[in-house]
Amino acid sequence: MKQLLKTLTETFGPSGYEDAVRRIILKEIKPLADEIRVDALGSVIARVTPAKNAKNPKKIMLAAHMDEIGLMASHIDKSGFVRFTNVGGTFGRYTLGTRVHFLNGTSGVVGYDRLESVDETVPMSKMFIDVGARSQKECPVTVGDVAAFERPFTEMGTKLVAKSMDDRTGVAVLIETMRALKSSPHDLYFVFTTQEEVGVRGAGAAAYGIDPDLGLAIDVTPTGDTPGAIKMEMKLGKGPCVKIRDAGMLADPRVVEWMVNTAEKARIPYQREVLLIGSTDARAVQLTRAGVAAGALSIPVRYVHSSSEMVDYEDLTNSVKLLTVLLSKPISF
Ligand code: CO
Ligand code: ZN
Repeated sequence: MKQLLKTLTETFGPSGYEDAVRRIILKEIKPLADEIRVDALGSVIARVTPAKNAKNPKKIMLAAHMDEIGLMASHIDKSGFVRFTNVGGTFGRYTLGTRVHFLNGTSGVVGYDRLESVDETVPMSKMFIDVGARSQKECPVTVGDVAAFERPFTEMGTKLVAKSMDDRTGVAVLIETMRALKSSPHDLYFVFTTQEEVGVRGAGAAAYGIDPDLGLAIDVTPTGDTPGAIKMEMKLGKGPCVKIRDAGMLADPRVVEWMVNTAEKARIPYQREVLLIGSTDARAVQLTRAGVAAGALSIPVRYVHSSSEMVDYEDLTNSVKLLTVLLSKPISF
């Protein structure tokens, strides 16, 4: 899974421009699914049909988003410097000084206007991307071009660091779960969604089309285990998190119980997640049509939405284990 994760995180796919990531996923899942389609918003929907003797199969949608946060050129000045806006939750403090890669191949460095003091926090409106051009005419970037952070994948013991761990870890975990799953009593829809970072848009459209009985998002969750962090329970390396709530949803208590009981029976480490900020595709699935029982399995991550998001590899392998057990057995509610 590490090699797959390296490939996925070193590929560029800001919201709405997930093409390169989608191509990798389609290649990986081709031998693992019974049906594959790409919907109008670009989400990949891979179906694994229930085992022949299955009674009352549940239609389960599993969602991991392909897109990542990014930047979009909004103005090129006379000297060839690029002003930009955010695509999704790009924070100023993480953007300054980083390198970016435009989808047209151009690389750039994020600089800033003259500061009033060295302690000043710089808003993105005072930043620009320097692509090395000498004039507007020479600038290889045009208004509307999108970019993402540029940063290689790095291993630090069991910790892995890369851009877009949010949510390429979820994508890798879903693909590995498809590989690990021998057969299921359920009708499974593995969905690799688009445009999560701009407001869970792809997942909403995909869920409407699938009309599932149950929905699970596989996404990252910030932790409370760094100096001065918000007091939250989630830690790196302590297992996948069972979402109970985040800022956008209350997970269905039956889904929480099913996940917790399954983890305990199978002796897979897990954590209880109460997240104070952010949400996931599960919110869009829960609120589609007349409503869907939904929850989420979250992978703990530090420095979310920076160009160096950190995860623990054991949390990924335990996520695959837990998902595989969850999907292998009948569900009683
Ligand atoms: Co995110
Ligand atoms: Zn995410």
